[in-house]
Amino acid sequence: MAPAESPQPARPCRLVVLVSGSGTNLQALLDAIAADPGFGASIVAVGADRDGIAGLERAERAGLPTFVCRVKDHEDRAAWDLALAEAVTGYQPDLVVSAGFMKILGKEFLTRFGGRVINTHPALLPSFPGTHGVRDALAYGAKVTGCTVHFVDDGVDTGPIIAQSVVEVRNEDDENALHERIKEVERRLLVEVVGRLARDGYRIEGRKVIVP
Ligand code: GRF
Repeated sequence: MAPAESPQPARPCRLVVLVSGSGTNLQALLDAIAADPGFGASIVAVGADRDGIAGLERAERAGLPTFVCRVKDHEDRAAWDLALAEAVTGYQPDLVVSAGFMKILGKEFLTRFGGRVINTHPALLPSFPGTHGVRDALAYGAKVTGCTVHFVDDGVDTGPIIAQSVVEVRNEDDENALHERIKEVERRLLVEVVGRLARDGYRIEGRKVIVP
């Protein structure tokens, strides 16, 4: 992974947010930034891997530039990854936030942005990585689960952990009910983490993320 230490920007930290779905995490960031002039970050663009999603509508309503980069429009995964990296590079982000972005970022993307890409995952990593973190925790019979905000490396949900929050599993939970409760906590955690990284900087020492 490239840089282990973040710059300490004198201007608001530039964020590109990547989404694939409803975009409630994006909305939480938009709301927090709008509510607090001292938040320390601004969203400069929102990207998606598909059209017609609420996440893009939220960005458009907020007056933000958006872009869509679909795998099927490219020859292969590597070409898609390069196109996504190019699109994001155009906005010169300090941090890239994968907020419900349902694709694995590839080699070119991480070469450019490694150490500056954060992801939010709806389980307590390293337990239950992958697409079905909520379903898998439920099926396993876990009594607590939660969410993890972490830096992205070249594995699936394996990068250095920045912060986690715990959510209790209830007897009556199905996947949807549990995911909704996790998402309430997840939105708060993501906002808190992005704000702290933007304002205070951070460094990554091996697997440890240190936010001063
Ligand atoms: C979040 O729970 C995220 O962790 C998961 O998908 C959900 C996205 O929610 N990968 P939203 O699109 O931000 O509402």
